[in-house]
Amino acid sequence: MEHTRPNTEDIVFEGLTFEPYLSRETIANRIEQLGKQISHDYKHTKPLFLCVLTGAFPFASDLFREFDGEAEIAFIRLKSYEGTGSTGEIKQVLGLSTNITDRHVIVVEDIVDTGNTMHNLLKVLKEQNPADIKIATLLFKPEALQRPIKPDYVGFEIPKKFIIGYGLDLDGLARNLKDIYVLKS
Ligand code: IMP
Ligand code: MG
Repeated sequence: MEHTRPNTEDIVFEGLTFEPYLSRETIANRIEQLGKQISHDYKHTKPLFLCVLTGAFPFASDLFREFDGEAEIAFIRLKSYEGTGSTGEIKQVLGLSTNITDRHVIVVEDIVDTGNTMHNLLKVLKEQNPADIKIATLLFKPEALQRPIKPDYVGFEIPKKFIIGYGLDLDGLARNLKDIYVLKS
């Protein structure tokens, strides 16, 4: 089928050339595995998937449908702002209307890079005393990590390179690519 064939050609965004890195098939297969694993781990609970917008929406959509059992999903967005005083940049969590107290939360992210985003998010979420919080991230750059973050479910560990597609953007673009591409060096 023509429309399911992965792209094998380089692609240019804002003058930068990207090459195919993870095909839609590779991504789908890995998410199916993660779904099975998460379904097994949460067999006796009703987890709440918490999708971090915008980048994680394709991953969350696919992962959620691979979950076999009762589960809920909610969507949050993080807003950066400059803190007054010495706290520096902190994140405000927008859209968290679901009460997560005593819930089994699975934070769904597109990528953990430095880990700063996840670190700040976990801090805010823990204030609501969930039963537990786990992290599912499609991509993880261990070499870039600056915080003690240990993602529980990782799609792919990747080197410290810039990637786009399947939710990941370059200045808001390229999120709709079905495959993931890496910046050519
Ligand atoms: P952090 O450095 O772990 O806080 O990651 C912050 C955010 O940077 C992620 O949620 C992504 O939105 C973005 N990001 C990190 N690495 C990449 C990449 O390779 N491509 C596109 N966005 C990225
Ligand atoms: Mg993100």
